[in-house]
Amino acid sequence: MTALDDAGHAALARRIADAAGLMGDVYKDKCLRRRIGVRMRACGVHTLEDYLAVLQRVAGEAERLRDTLTINVTRFYRNPETWDALARSALAPLWAEREGRLTVWSAGCASGEEPYTVVMLVAEIARAAARPEWLGRLHVDATDIDRVSLERAAAARYRSDAAADMPAAVRDRYLAADGDDFVVLPAIRRPVAIRRLDLGGDPPLRARYDFILCRNVVIYFDRAMQERLFQTFADCLAPGGILLLGKVETLLGPARDRFQLVDARERIYRRTA
Ligand SMILES: C[S@@+](CC[C@H](N)C(=O)[O-])C[C@H]1O[C@@H](n2cnc3c(N)ncnc32)[C@H](O)[C@@H]1O
Repeated sequence: MTALDDAGHAALARRIADAAGLMGDVYKDKCLRRRIGVRMRACGVHTLEDYLAVLQRVAGEAERLRDTLTINVTRFYRNPETWDALARSALAPLWAEREGRLTVWSAGCASGEEPYTVVMLVAEIARAAARPEWLGRLHVDATDIDRVSLERAAAARYRSDAAADMPAAVRDRYLAADGDDFVVLPAIRRPVAIRRLDLGGDPPLRARYDFILCRNVVIYFDRAMQERLFQTFADCLAPGGILLLGKVETLLGPARDRFQLVDARERIYRRTA
């Protein structure tokens, strides 16, 4: 394939993204084209032109493409070692300093396992510190672009495999078994506010957070979008606040100067300026 062909294909992929109602140019070309490829195979078409025609003709196809793009795989305590490091090196000291007043943003929270994990982690720190009342001072904004995932987050009911990475004692304390499912207990749900928010265009819900998690989300975004988003996170994190990215994601662009690395392996950063 020549460079011109490639550019032509990229432009067509962007037209398809526009036709599907995907906001801005936020997704990486490679990512966009791979996902379009998935839908092309599912629809039995062989060219981008033919897929664009399907998209314009077939009701529901735009939604199916959006679903394919916003893959929302997640789990409670995903990467348990990250949560251990976070509790030890960042969250417990911050929480003690603020006497439990902690405002958190789980950006790209998918079906909610991540924000509920934050609450469970804090509940465990409160337990260890014998300060259970601090849990009532926690607030977690859980946002995602995908409405179906957000409905699942609000229902707070999960298949047992969602809990596979959890320490058993934590699972037994904060999840109630109901048939084959687990339901998150009200004390863990209470601090979590679930809202739809497109990181590609919507402003943050509040001006000041103490802790922002954005894990396994920016890998789908192009570099310009990642840099913009990291600046936004730096702007709305309080000095001393913590940023956690996914294990294969790295803070880049001008926002790097506003953070100090706390744990390189677990992608934990502290806002400095
Ligand atoms: C792989 S999941 C990550 C879930 C969780 N953070 C974790 O690490 O387990 C990626 C999530 O990013 C969301 N997402 C993708 N593009 C987004 C956008 N433009 N704005 C907000 N969320 C987005 C998807 O809907 C999906 O739920």
